[in-house]
Formats: sequence, structure tokens, C-alpha cells
Amino acid sequence: MDAIVDSLNHRAEFPYELTYLGDGSEMWRAGEVPSNPELAPMLSDFDTILTCHAEQLLALAPSSSPVRIVDLGPGTTRPVRGLIRHLLDRSRLTGYRAIDISAEILELASENLRVDFPAHAERFELCRGDFTGPDLARVLTAERTPGHDGADPVRFVVLAGGTLYNFAEPTQVLRHVCHVMSDHDVLLLTLRIDTGVDRPPFMDQVSVGGPYKPQQLAGLDLLAIDRSWYVTETGFDRVRSEVFVRARFLEPVTVTFDVGDDQKTVSFEPGDTVLVWRYLYHDSAAVVDQLTRCGLQVRLFEHGQGRQVVLVAAMRAQ
Ligand SMILES: C[S@@+](CC[C@H](N)C(=O)[O-])C[C@H]1O[C@@H](n2cnc3c(N)ncnc32)[C@H](O)[C@@H]1O
Repeated sequence: MDAIVDSLNHRAEFPYELTYLGDGSEMWRAGEVPSNPELAPMLSDFDTILTCHAEQLLALAPSSSPVRIVDLGPGTTRPVRGLIRHLLDRSRLTGYRAIDISAEILELASENLRVDFPAHAERFELCRGDFTGPDLARVLTAERTPGHDGADPVRFVVLAGGTLYNFAEPTQVLRHVCHVMSDHDVLLLTLRIDTGVDRPPFMDQVSVGGPYKPQQLAGLDLLAIDRSWYVTETGFDRVRSEVFVRARFLEPVTVTFDVGDDQKTVSFEPGDTVLVWRYLYHDSAAVVDQLTRCGLQVRLFEHGQGRQVVLVAAMRAQ
């Protein structure tokens, strides 16, 4: 609650990663349903792109080495299950470990993995934690299980579904992940990028009531702020190169937080805005440039069918 009050007061933003907690996780159970049906093919590219390129990813690991997947923010695990299957079928998967900030999301992830891989439950390890802080080292450096021939596993560190670009400072997060990775590990990012075509109209002008996903309003739902008390605005911040969804209040709203014996309040006047979602919208050159500045070398860059969703594999530059 402190983090929410702080962020609302100082940055007029609901921290998106906290929308996955508690009841906020329920919307992920139902699957992603975009308010604009044109976004649907893009969502399915996110689900399939790792599987479609699984063989190319395996080629980045030495041929005999087993692979451990470390999934940063697994969500439903839908995008990674095809890759898990691919590795299992080739006897290359030594384990899957996920770290997520939300206990409820981990529960959902665990259920989905149990259903798809009933015979492999012992390979899956789900840890609660924040991968932008010290918890990442705990998850990444936990003891390595050697493969059949004793070879150290290569780790596929997965940051899928555009999660990286939802952070206010993605470069910091990348540097943090890169710092903990070893030279053999492969970072796998799936991102939506700006291809220069089919640019959404809200990039030129803020769209009131424009496209958004219900999950993007989950933070305000968790605060019991009725959806009729604000309008959504979808737009593009040119300075930060970010797409955003924000709420603009129509009514005066005061939220009271009970924090132990203390009470904290946050108030909004009509016209005030709260940012509920941000997404860095880079083109492919900017994606590569950012990774390079963080000490990573891009080894694979593949587009999904719709071109806008990409899979990027990168390793620490030698
Ligand atoms: C956009 S979803 C992506 C889920 C999944 N990787 C996918 O591609 O469908 C982001 C996931 O990351 C988790 N998450 C966000 N920030 C996190 C953080 N700082 N530490 C741990 N998990 C986080 C959320 O709880 C959620 O499960």
C-alpha cells in the first residue's frame, strides 16, 4: 500500500506490476481480451513466437548442454509452454524456474503447468519475488543441476509479453538482469515494436476512450474507483517514446488507505490524471541499441506473423 500511495502521490501513476496482485490476477485467468479486436492477432503472436523459433534458440546453446528456463514474470505461462514441450521432447529441459511478484499469478502458472505437463511436476519451481531487485540473484544463482553427461545447463532467461517495456526504466532492469547472467545464458525477450507501418492513430492525437485492455484498469478497480468516475485516454509520449493509458477524473475522488493504525489518503480533482499503463515503443534499431548499451549482444531477432511482435535473443557481449 505504501508503494501505491507513494506512486500515486509523487508520480500520478498506479504501479502496473501491482495490478497482478490479489483480485487483479483474476483478469489474467480469463485471458487477454483487448477492447479493440484488431489487437487480437498481435496477442496470439506473443503466445506462439517462442515456440516457432525454438530450434533456432536451441542452436544458441552448445549441442550437448541441457537447458534450464528461468521465466521472469511468467503470467499464465502460455507463451513459454510450447518451448517447454519442445525441450522436453528432445530431452534437453533440465528444469523450469519462474519468479513472479504475485502469489496468485504463480498459483495460476502452477495450475497451467500441471495440466500440460502432469508427468514433469518435479521440474517446475515457482518463486515469489521481485526480479528488479535482489530476488533475481537468488533465483538465477540457485544451484545448477548438471545434465546427464555432467554438462552445466545453459539458462534461457525469459522476459516475455513486453513486460520489460512496461517499466518506467527498462534500461535499469536490463542492466540488472545482464549483471546476474553468466556468459552462456541467453536472454529471450518478446516485445511489441514500432515497425513504422500501421501506426495507431493515438500516436498523433490522444484518443479519449481509445483502445485499452481491461487489465490496464485493474489498479483503479483494486482501489474501488468506479469506471464511470473517469475517462480513459490512450496516447503517445514523444519525449519518452512511450504509449500510455491514463485515467482522467470526471469527479472528485478520495481514496483512504488503512495502513496499520495509520490512514493515508490520496485525492484527485476533476481533470487530474493517473497513468495506469506505459509501454516503451521502440523500433528495431532502438531495441538493439538499448541491449548493446546494457552489455548484451543480439544473437537472434525474429518477427512474428504480424511483424510487430518480435523475439530477441541476446547474450552477454564477450
Ligand atoms: C505482462 S505479464 C507477462 C506474462 C507472461 N510472461 C507472458 O508473456 O504472457 C507480466 C508478468 O510479470 C510479473 N511481474 C511484473 N513485474 C514484476 C516484478 N518486478 N517482479 C516479478 N514479477 C513481475 C507480473 O505479475 C506478470 O505475471
